[in-house]
Amino acid sequence: MTKPAEISVTAPVSEHLPKEKFDELDAFINQLETREGALIEILHKAQNIFGYLPRDVQLYIARKLDIPGAEVFGVVSFYSYFTTKPRGKHTISVCMGTACFVRGADRIIERFKEKLGIESNEITEDGLFTLKDVRCIGACGLAPVVMVDDKVYGRVKEEEIDEIINSFRGKKGGENENKVH
Ligand code: FES
Repeated sequence: MTKPAEISVTAPVSEHLPKEKFDELDAFINQLETREGALIEILHKAQNIFGYLPRDVQLYIARKLDIPGAEVFGVVSFYSYFTTKPRGKHTISVCMGTACFVRGADRIIERFKEKLGIESNEITEDGLFTLKDVRCIGACGLAPVVMVDDKVYGRVKEEEIDEIINSFRGKKGGENENKVH
């Protein structure tokens, strides 16, 4: 199978979107056997590289693939995995599924908002945390559940929230003891 011709597009390089990252994305796109059906794969890669998918990167991908920008925007907004805003170093996900909700998840998330000074999907000023409300993460028996990156905290109480946050401040975030397996 012949590879698709490379489409030359000028990258919207800026302080936050450095050239090396576009080069890495180009290299990934150029090594694909086919670009048909590869949009999601490319978006995953782009989010890995840039940490998020700002509009300029989405448009760049659309031009590279020679497809309408609206098609890319549509896919990005459809999948909650994709984010158009930068993320903090740690992502705090508060489950708002039914089991967690009836066990007080709304109070838990409010407390996180208050302590971090941000709303859902925002990033703290120091760039350390992003707060997200998520749907059931499949640990209903431990409701209410909070995840910080890939660490799961079960039966979380409001008074434990400070401790959870502080355990990631000034730490590399690798050795938390409250992990539930
Ligand atoms: S509802 Fe929260 S883990 Fe299922």
